This record gives sequence, C-alpha cells and structure tokens, in this order.
Amino acid sequence: MNINKKICLVTGASSGIGYAIAKSLHAEDYCIVATARRNNRLKQLNIEDILTGDLCNYDFQDSILNYIISKYGRCDYLFNCAGTIEAGSIEEIDIDKVTSMLRLNIEATFRLIYKFMKLYKEQGSGHIINISSVLGTKVRATAGAYSATKFAIEALSEALRMELTGTNIKVTCIEPGLVMTELHNDWPVHPKESMNIKEPLNVEDIVETVKFILKQPVHVRIPKLMILPKDHNI
Ligand SMILES: NC(=O)c1ccc[n+]([C@@H]2O[C@H](COP(=O)([O-])OP(=O)(O)OC[C@H]3O[C@@H](n4cnc5c(N)ncnc54)[C@H](OP(=O)(O)O)[C@@H]3O)[C@@H](O)[C@H]2O)c1
Repeated sequence: MNINKKICLVTGASSGIGYAIAKSLHAEDYCIVATARRNNRLKQLNIEDILTGDLCNYDFQDSILNYIISKYGRCDYLFNCAGTIEAGSIEEIDIDKVTSMLRLNIEATFRLIYKFMKLYKEQGSGHIINISSVLGTKVRATAGAYSATKFAIEALSEALRMELTGTNIKVTCIEPGLVMTELHNDWPVHPKESMNIKEPLNVEDIVETVKFILKQPVHVRIPKLMILPKDHNI
C-alpha cells in the first residue's frame, strides 16, 4: 500500500519540530516512521508506525532500521530532530548533563547517519535532513557546549556533501534561530526574554522550510538553510 509513498524516519517526533514535521508530512501522504522515548506523545500523531525508545541505545537504532527495511524495503528521508540543549559557562555547566547531550546530539545522530549512509548507498538515493541550529554556525557565551554539538553535525554534513558529489544522496542542515517548543521549558528565563525576541519562530515555519527543501528537483542541493526570527540580532 505504501510502496509509492516516500518513506521518512523522523526522530524526536514526540514534540516540537519533529512532531510538527511528522504530522504535516503524514497529512501530505508521506509514510512516517516516528520515534522518541515518550510513547503517549508519539501516539498523539495518530500514525501507524511509532517506535518508542532511546536513540542513545544502539540496539534500538538497529531495531528502527530493521523495522523500516523489513516493512518498506527502503527509506527516502531521515529527519534528525531528536536533540537536547544544556546552557551555562564552561566552568559551571553540569558536566554530566553535557555528556548526555553530546551522546544524543552528536554520537547517536552520527551513528544513525552512518547506518543510513549504508542503506542510501545500496538503494542509490536518499536525503538526510539534520535540524542543526544557528548555533551550529556561531558561538555565544554560555552556549559553547550546545554549539559544539551542532558544529559537529555541520562538519559531518559538509564532509558528507563532498563525499556524495555526483550521487543522488542529499544532506541538508536546517539552522533555526529560536523556535517555540519544549526545548527551553526548564530554563529559569526563556531565551525569548533574555534575547528580547518578541516573535520567535514557530514549528510551522520549520515545516514550511522542510517543504521547500523537499520540493527541489533531484539536481539541486541545499546543504544549509538558516532561518531566523526578525528580532534575532547576534
Ligand atoms: N527550539 C529551538 O529554539 C531550536 C532552535 C534550533 C535548533 N533546535 C533543534 O531542533 C531539534 C528539535 O528540538 P525541539 O526544539 O523540537 O525540542 P523538543 O520539543 O524538546 O524536542 C526534542 C525531541 O527530542 C527527543 N529526544 C530527547 N532525548 C531523546 C533520546 N535520548 N532519545 C530519543 N529521543 C529523544 C524528545 O522526545 P522524548 O523526550 O519523548 O524522547 C523530543 O521529541 C533539536 O535538535 C534542537 O537542538 C531547536
């Protein structure tokens, strides 16, 4: 039934950007495999394929890939939306939380990309879309650790782009500024206050960016696409 649909894996699909991408592309008749840890939130997507687990567990990553291959035989899009943020000066930041962030934002994401590259090479096509950040292109005080994780994904993606020259495999980093999601829920002061951003981006802005990227013809590459709210001034 889904053989003519585009197959998409969306990580971080239980909230925020990942949830919005999964919901919107499902409505546009893409076939979505959605994953995150919170099963109750994934269920709200009301889609067939939800896989609940921790992306830092590599057996779980294998099971995601095996599920997709055995059910659909291929995957067209990997949306790397799972991510977390830790802020603080290098000297005061909670180093254990930073380590967890490094494991998810870099190690788990890198490993999934690595696995998908093997699949994409076999099928001769595919697209990796990483939700990076404006902080993957510049650094701010107290954002060094988070920036480092996004710089890492940018570096990996740029090398991949070069290694994939002439193939039908694409890689894109979307680099948003502040988006209203649950990412900063436990911050004592929300960045929209500290950065004086009156109108942050919303998840629909990111979905529109994704749709723009997806509608490009086969010969077009969009390696990076930055999207900022109008009050972003650094
Ligand atoms: N919001 C912004 O201002 C902003 C700006 C630039 C870039 N970004 C990036 O956008 C991406 C999405 O963030 P968001 O803003 O949509 O935040 P969010 O609403 O907090 O979503 C984060 C997602 O990651 C999942 N996740 C966290 N830890 C996980 C783990 N160990 N295993 C599997 N899934 C895990 C969460 O699901 P569970 O908790 O259910 O596992 C959730 O679905 C992140 O990479 C973030 O860095 C966000």
